[in-house]
Amino acid sequence: MRNYSENVLQTMGGERANHMTLKRPKGMIQLDSGTPSFPTPDHICDAAKKALDDGLTHYAPGQGDPEFLQAVCENIERECKSNYSTDSVIATNGGSSGIYTIMTAFLGKGDEVILMDPTFSLYSHVAKQIGGTPVNVPHGPDYHLDLQAIRDAITDKTKLLLICNPNNPTGLVYTQKELQSLTELCSENNIILVSDEAYAKILQPGFKHIPLLSFKEHKNNLILLDTFSKTYSMTGWRLGNMVVPEDMNSVIFGVHRSITGPICSFVQRAGAAALRGPQDCVSEMKKEYEKRGKLMYELAKNISGLIPLEPQGGFYLYCRYTLPILASNLRKKLWDAGVAIRSGTEFGKSGENHVRLTYSVSEETIKKGMQVISEFFKKTT
Ligand SMILES: Cc1ncc(COP(=O)(O)O)c(C=O)c1O
Repeated sequence: MRNYSENVLQTMGGERANHMTLKRPKGMIQLDSGTPSFPTPDHICDAAKKALDDGLTHYAPGQGDPEFLQAVCENIERECKSNYSTDSVIATNGGSSGIYTIMTAFLGKGDEVILMDPTFSLYSHVAKQIGGTPVNVPHGPDYHLDLQAIRDAITDKTKLLLICNPNNPTGLVYTQKELQSLTELCSENNIILVSDEAYAKILQPGFKHIPLLSFKEHKNNLILLDTFSKTYSMTGWRLGNMVVPEDMNSVIFGVHRSITGPICSFVQRAGAAALRGPQDCVSEMKKEYEKRGKLMYELAKNISGLIPLEPQGGFYLYCRYTLPILASNLRKKLWDAGVAIRSGTEFGKSGENHVRLTYSVSEETIKKGMQVISEFFKKTT
């Protein structure tokens, strides 16, 4: 056994780490990853090519390319009617380096971050890896926030509360009312409220995303984590941004700087073009996800023993199941049957008896994958 640090040992062997390192047999039907199936829109690629031609191939300014930071501020103004200066924005390497940075900036050994359960598994993984303590608060039976349970989880060690909205893996969007209560609770208790809004633009018809930064009266207490990966189908470009209260800028920038250094300069110009350019590409992808989400939901409803939650946002279908088998084993058995999915317990203890399926893939892949799952359930019940 190598001499790994205690913190790293805490995260080794977890479901997230294991899933990431699995070798996929050829032909595996992939309903497990969070990768959009669309190419990055042309005007975004063109902006990167132009930036390369213009010689933007050296270090960008540490906090971010000024054009990019300005485009993010314009976007917040449009979306949240809230005024932020570029001093509040930091370019990141996708959403992931923002998550790592915020945890590192606020969590010392034993400090607590309150997380919803289930939620994106990277949060608790990172918290543990840096020596912090994730405190997982189960959602209520309707998969919304359980505000009393959150209140009860607050201790004098609580530094952060992190939500993912729309939530990965449940595909649920939090309401104005519950977010209002949450922002008030965090401000009253001097806890920084962080919102990861990676899927904010991918919504099913009838559902509305309420951006955290629209709660202007709590501005001093809010941090937004955003990424271009999903909205603009840019997972490979590795671009995101954090928006932090202005007084936190230099400390948080310093932490981020020590993790990744400045973000790729020409990629940031592509990000500015994404935000400032036409948004039809976003609506077109959204329409496709609407169709795919509906298709997967209907197919899942027809499988006896599988109870899908109607998707609201993101591109995940979260399903409860009634087979007498642990979620981690069900994931393995479906893998052996030829379809990759994620076990609910990867996202928290309350994910037992649940699985997460992805509908970011083509309709054909959805149909094929659901057929395999259907046959498995028929055979096993
Ligand atoms: C909720 C959420 N946040 C952040 C990320 C990180 O993605 P990236 O680093 O590509 O932006 C993901 C990826 O799946 C995610 O689901």
